[in-house]
Amino acid sequence: MSSGAGGAAAGRGRYGRDEFRPEQAGEAERIDLGALAYDDLTLTRLRALGVGPGWRCLDIGAGTGTVSRRLLREAEVAGVLAVDRDVRFLAERPVPGLDVLEADVTAPDFAPGRFDLVHARFVLMHLPDPERMVSALAGLVAPGGVLVLSDAVDLTSDRTGAELSASDGGAAADTPYAAAMRAMWQGLRGSIGTDVSWVPSYPQLLRGAGLRGVGAEMYVPPLLRGSPISRFWADTWERSRASMVATGLIDGAGIDAAVRYLDSDACAALSAGMLTAWGRKPATPGAAPR
Ligand SMILES: C[S@@+](CC[C@H](N)C(=O)[O-])C[C@H]1O[C@@H](n2cnc3c(N)ncnc32)[C@H](O)[C@@H]1O
Repeated sequence: MSSGAGGAAAGRGRYGRDEFRPEQAGEAERIDLGALAYDDLTLTRLRALGVGPGWRCLDIGAGTGTVSRRLLREAEVAGVLAVDRDVRFLAERPVPGLDVLEADVTAPDFAPGRFDLVHARFVLMHLPDPERMVSALAGLVAPGGVLVLSDAVDLTSDRTGAELSASDGGAAADTPYAAAMRAMWQGLRGSIGTDVSWVPSYPQLLRGAGLRGVGAEMYVPPLLRGSPISRFWADTWERSRASMVATGLIDGAGIDAAVRYLDSDACAALSAGMLTAWGRKPATPGAAPR
């Protein structure tokens, strides 16, 4: 699996400072478009893992808090601590049972307690050293609890337009969409170090962090015209336009063409997938998994 990074050096910038600044108009709406595409899947998986009444939950990089609130409302958990480096969107919509903490989860002294559920969606892929982060988050799981990680998997075909054209008589030439996706992953790697190449390794990383009963699944939301996920990618490209163009893989006109393609009947492409992986901390050291 390629991140599309093409060996580019990882940037030293930070999410929320050098890309996707929360003070930029519409950033909460962009996060909510992603949530509309993925929240049902996330809630279904969390509930299948047993998350429910009595559970103390930690939502890492909670964004606008859609998962935190649904855990309280639908799964009726005991409480959620929602952590983010910037909590303005969380603070805007307080609900009983939701505690909010502004913190950098990469800080060595980040230790908000032990929780029955530790959840992080679309966060670790933007942070340095995911292996260390998986281990650190596993350390926050109470015995018998679960760590659940979701992040993006790039499904852009490595085949070039020329190869596809040769195999099907030219019907499936490289699309503006594929070019934009590749430029986005490489651009974000260059600016803030985003690296989705780790994501398929999450099951092994969870196991290596001492968790058991490890499982994983992937969901690919359909890129239907006007759908939340299509609008999410168009908005994400708009915000990361400078980093995308800086890769040299695409120019402004190419990004515009990709946005038009997403919103057209010609669109026939795969969104990035969301891989969700989970593991359970043994109830007592050395015990068999539940
Ligand atoms: C792509 S958004 C995902 C939001 C939410 N988890 C969701 O799936 O809807 C990434 C979130 O992680 C937060 N974040 C990024 N780096 C962080 C860090 N070092 N510490 C805490 N939060 C961070 C961002 O502020 C942002 O809210």
